[in-house]
Amino acid sequence: KHRRMMAPDITARKGGDPIVALTSYHAHTAAIADNHCDFLLVGDSLGMVMHGYESTVPVPLDLMIMHGRAVVRGSKRSLVVIDMPFGTYEESPPVAFRNAARVMKETDCGAVKLEGGRRMAETVRYLVDRGIPVMAHIGLTPQSVNVLGGFKTQGQRVDQWAAIEEDARLVAEAGAFAVVLEAMAAPLAERITQAIPIPTIGIGASPGCDGQILVMEDMLGLSPNVPKFVKLFGAIGGAIDSAIGAYAAEVRARTFPAPEHTYSVKGEGGPADPA
Ligand code: KIV
Ligand code: NA
Repeated sequence: KHRRMMAPDITARKGGDPIVALTSYHAHTAAIADNHCDFLLVGDSLGMVMHGYESTVPVPLDLMIMHGRAVVRGSKRSLVVIDMPFGTYEESPPVAFRNAARVMKETDCGAVKLEGGRRMAETVRYLVDRGIPVMAHIGLTPQSVNVLGGFKTQGQRVDQWAAIEEDARLVAEAGAFAVVLEAMAAPLAERITQAIPIPTIGIGASPGCDGQILVMEDMLGLSPNVPKFVKLFGAIGGAIDSAIGAYAAEVRARTFPAPEHTYSVKGEGGPADPA
């Protein structure tokens, strides 16, 4: 019955009911999140969460495509947005188009996301004009960690606000359908939300944003270290630890597998059934 959400459906929610989003990297959790979310982001944070990299900088495009396909297959109604990883879009609008078109053709996702405000405005326009919906991402942009010198909160000094607000205006004018505001002072996020015509999606921003996103593994309680802005809505790490501990104990005690988990021999000629 439900057709899949598309980028304009997200834009239409500006100023309305909050937009609910999570990252998603794999099919079975995508199917669960799909029951609750408006869009699923295949974030390049998957490099850190799923593959153990220290930052998102090393993530290859092929990895985004593999996980993107899994999330599209696993979901039915949420818009699927896929992050363009570092090095695949910054060089020029045509390079960005070539790589983003590959992502869309090979995954069947509905939009891409890229990091940057004014520096990416021309690229956002180029992609949108050629059929690729773009979500922008400003404030803390983790792909620039090596320039920033760490994952640092943005806009905690008021003299930094004008430049960040200008980033938001320029990506909105360039045709972005929504913009992620990451790790920035709450009053700045509210101000940007009031100032621009497209939805703001906060992560470590403000409840005043038009929507919220978190990394799924962080909010489930699976990630070992999480930023201040993450609330633990679950304790999945502890649940996995007890389940695996119980399994290990039963294997060592030879109580697993029990008879109901084993197969009997059919027909003649096998060893006698001990029961
Ligand atoms: O990669 C990611 O998970 C993201 C979100 C946190 C916005 O870009
Ligand atoms: Na990202």
